[in-house]
Amino acid sequence: MDAAGKEEISVEDEAVDKNVFRDCTKIAFYRRQKQQLIKKSTYQAVLDSITTGQDSTRFQIVHEATKIPLMAEIYGIERNIFRLKINEEMPLKPRYEVPDVLTSKPSTVRLISCSGDSGNVVLADEKGDLKCHITAKPFKVDLVSEEEVVMSINSLGQLYFEHLQVPQKQRATKENESASVDTAKENEDDLGLWEEKFGNFVDVKANGPASIGLDFSLHGFEHLYGIPQHAESHQLKNTSDGDAYRLYNLDVYGYKIHDKMGIYGSIPYLLAHKLGKTVGIFWLNASETLVEINTEPAVEYTLTQVGPAAAKQKVRCRTDVHWMSESGIIDVFLLAGPTPSDVFRQYSQLTGTQAMPPLFSLGYHQCRWNYEDEQDVKAVDAGFDEHDIPYDVMWLDIEHTEGKRYFTWDKKRFPNPKRMQELLRSKKRKLVVISDPHIKTDPDYSVYAKAKEQGFFVKTREGADFEGICWPGLSSYLDFTNPKVREWYAGLFAFSAYQGSTDVLFIWNDMNEPSVFRGPEQTMQKNAVHHGNWEHRELHNIYGFYQQMATAEGLIQRSKGKERPFVLTRSFFAGSQKYGAVWTGDNTADWSYLRISIPMLLTLSITGISFCGADVGGFIGNPEAELLVRWYQAGAYQPFFRGHATMNTKRREPWLFGEEHTQLIREAIRERYTLLPYWYSLFYHAHVASQPVMRPLWVEFPDDLQTFGVEDEYMLGSALLVHPVTEPKATEVDVFLPGSDEIPVFQRGGTVVPIKTTVGKSTGWMTHSPYGLRVALSTKGSAVGELYLDDGHSFQYLHQKQFLHRKFSFCSSVLNNSCADKRGHYPSKCVVEQILVLGLGKEPSSVTTHSSDGKDQPVAFTYCAQASTLRLEKLSLDIGADWEVQIM
Ligand code: GLC
Repeated sequence: MDAAGKEEISVEDEAVDKNVFRDCTKIAFYRRQKQQLIKKSTYQAVLDSITTGQDSTRFQIVHEATKIPLMAEIYGIERNIFRLKINEEMPLKPRYEVPDVLTSKPSTVRLISCSGDSGNVVLADEKGDLKCHITAKPFKVDLVSEEEVVMSINSLGQLYFEHLQVPQKQRATKENESASVDTAKENEDDLGLWEEKFGNFVDVKANGPASIGLDFSLHGFEHLYGIPQHAESHQLKNTSDGDAYRLYNLDVYGYKIHDKMGIYGSIPYLLAHKLGKTVGIFWLNASETLVEINTEPAVEYTLTQVGPAAAKQKVRCRTDVHWMSESGIIDVFLLAGPTPSDVFRQYSQLTGTQAMPPLFSLGYHQCRWNYEDEQDVKAVDAGFDEHDIPYDVMWLDIEHTEGKRYFTWDKKRFPNPKRMQELLRSKKRKLVVISDPHIKTDPDYSVYAKAKEQGFFVKTREGADFEGICWPGLSSYLDFTNPKVREWYAGLFAFSAYQGSTDVLFIWNDMNEPSVFRGPEQTMQKNAVHHGNWEHRELHNIYGFYQQMATAEGLIQRSKGKERPFVLTRSFFAGSQKYGAVWTGDNTADWSYLRISIPMLLTLSITGISFCGADVGGFIGNPEAELLVRWYQAGAYQPFFRGHATMNTKRREPWLFGEEHTQLIREAIRERYTLLPYWYSLFYHAHVASQPVMRPLWVEFPDDLQTFGVEDEYMLGSALLVHPVTEPKATEVDVFLPGSDEIPVFQRGGTVVPIKTTVGKSTGWMTHSPYGLRVALSTKGSAVGELYLDDGHSFQYLHQKQFLHRKFSFCSSVLNNSCADKRGHYPSKCVVEQILVLGLGKEPSSVTTHSSDGKDQPVAFTYCAQASTLRLEKLSLDIGADWEVQIM
C-alpha cells in the first residue's frame, strides 16, 4: 500500500489484496522442495568419517543419487540443548550463517560417543540424560531424553539441500552448448532457479538455488505453539498443501485474521507440549521460511485374535514439522525441556532475555497518527488530568517531522520541541517519536547526505544505492546489518546530534520489515545487496531486529550508559526481546481483532517477547464506544498498553464517548496503575529468569490437558487469571478456572500480589505512594508472592545492585516479608499500608505486627464473613524491612 493509498482506504474496503502477497504455490523454493521430495531419494550418514572435537562431533552425509557430501555437526550445549548444523562440505562460496542473534558462543558440553557400530552411533552428554542416536542408512537422528525418544530428525526423509552452483552464464560459456542451455532454462524458469517472477517483478538470483529443508517428528505431541508472527490461533494448526506457516516479514495493512501469511516479524522457533514434557525447536535462519505441521493422531491396531483377547498395539500420536528456508544453512537448536520453564530458560540462554523496561513504559501510552501540533499535544495531555486518567507517554507519528525526514521537526507544528518536552517532564511524562529505516533521498537532508557519502545504504545488485518509495517518497534504506551503520545511527540519538531531543524522548521504529511501497510484496527486492555482499534474501527477516538494536544502543549511549532505553519495533526476529517492545501492527477496530490480540500476544510471549501489545481500539476504522471500552479493559492487562489510531479516523481520546464510558476506561487504566508493582516484578522475573509475563494456561497448568487449547484467557505471571470480554453486548462470560482452587476470584489461591494503594497522574507520581498486598489463600491457607523495585529507569540495579527484591509468604496464619535477594539494596521510603487477605475462613481474634527490632503492635482490622476477607488498613510497615503480621 502506498502512502496515498493508505490514507484513502476506508474500513469497508480494507481487505488485504492477496494478489500483492504470495502464497506457497507462488514460491519457487517451496515448489522445488515439494517436487524433489516426491522422488524420495535419501541421504546416508558416513559414520566412519565421524570425528569428535572439543566443541562438536562431525560427520559426512551423502546424497544417494548425487553423491555430493554435506557436513553435519552436532553440539551438546549446557542445560539440555543439542545443536545440529548441516552445511555443504565445500560450498562454492560461504553460505549465510545468522550472526548477532546468539547472545554469546553457546557453552558446549563434550559429547561422548557411547556405543554403536557402522550403522549407528550414540552421542550422550556427560550426565547421559540427553542422547542423540544417529542412524546411517537412511540418515536419521533420534533425540532421546529421560530414556524416551522425543524427536526424530529426517525420519520422513525431507532433508533437502541445494548446493551452490556455478552461475548460469559462466556455465553456458563453459559448455558452449546453447541449445541444451535453452531447454534447461525453460525448466528452470518454472522452478525459479536463477530467476523467479512474481507479477511484474523479476528476482534475478546471483547465487541460483540455495534452499534447504528438514523434517522433525515429535513423538507423542499434538500441541504445538510459536513461530510468530501470524494472525492465528495460539495452538498451531495442521497445514494443508500450499498453506504452510510463512515466516517472511511484511507490511500487511489490516492483515487478515486466521491466516498463515507472514506479517511484520518472524521468530523461527516453536514449542511442543504434552503431559510431562515440553520441548522446543529453534531454526536459526533469517531467509524466507515455511513451516508445515501435520499431526498423526494416536491409533490402536488389532494385531491378532488369540483366544478371547485381541493383541493390540498402540501407536502414539505424532506431529511432523517440516521447515523449509530459501537459503542459508541448516542450524537448528533442539531444546529438551523437560518443563515449560526449562524450555524458556534454554531459549533465552541462546537469544537473551527480555530487556528490563523503564517503569514508565509499563504505564499507558497515548498515540495517534497524528497529534497535530504542540497545541494538540498540550490539550490531550491536559485532557488526561482533567478527566483524572493516568497516562505516561505521548506519541508523535511521522507528521511531526519536516517532510518525513526523521530526526527533524516540522517547524510550523512543533516550533519548540524542547518546550513541549519540558511540559511533559513537568508532568513526569515522556514523549516517543517515530524513526523509520527509510531515508528521504534529499541531498540537503544531512542524514541522507552523510549516509550516502559513507556508503551506508543497502545497494542494488548493480551497486547503486537502493531506492524505493515509502512515506517521504523516494528513499534509500540504511543497511543496519553493517556494524558501522549501526554505530553511526546510534550516534544520531546523541542529544547534540538530535536537535530538539531531550532525555524524556524515546523511540518507535516502524516500517522496518522493511516496507517498500510498490516493491515486491511491499518490501525490498531479494537481490538487493547488504554489507559483506550478502543478498537481501539471506537476511530479510533480521533487518528490523538490527534497527531496533541500533536504536536501543543509541539511547543507551546518549545517557552515557546510565539509562534504560525504550524502543518499540514493528518488525522483529528471534532475540528482539533484548532491545525493547513489539506491537502487532495495523489491526482493525473490530471485535475479531480484539479477540485475536490474545493468541497473538501469547505466541509472542512464549517465544521470548514478553513486552508486546496490540493497538488499543484498533488502528484502522472507528470503534464504537463499547468496543473501545472493552479494548481498554483487555489492553490494561496486556504488557504493552498503547491506544493508537490511523489518520482518517475520528478522535478517540478516552473522554470523548460520554461520562459513562469515560468512567469505565478510567477504571481500566487506573487498575493497570494499581497493579504496576506486580507488572514490574513480572518483568524483572522475565529479565532474570526468562519466564514470560503473559502466559498461556498450559504453561501454568502443564498437567491439565483441558488448558492446552485455551486462548481466550491467560495468566499474568502465576497469580492472575485474565479473561477479557471480547464479544459485544456481553453481560456474562464463561471463565474456565484451571487447577484445584475454588475461590471465585481471578487471583489464584496461594498467591500474594503487590499493588499501589493510590494512583497518580503517571508512574512518576507514584514512586513514594504506599503499597498494598492482596493475599489470596490456597485451600491449605497459604500464599506466596514477590515484589521487585528499583529506581525504575537506570542500570544501577545491574551495576550497583540497587534494588529491593522481597518475598511475601503466608503460612500458619502469619504473613511474612523477607528478603528474596540479599545482593540488592535500595533505600525506599515506601510502606505497606494495606493488606487484604482473601479466603480466610474464620474471623481472627487479634492481629499483631512484629518488626525485626522486636516491636509488636496490635492492628485494627475488619473481617467480612460472607466474603471470607480480612482487611488491614492504615498500616505503616517498611516495604524493605523484615516483618511479620500474625493473625490469631
Ligand atoms: C504504519 C504503522 C502505524 C503508523 C503508520 C504511520 O502503518 O503500523 O502504526 O501510525 O505507519 O507512521
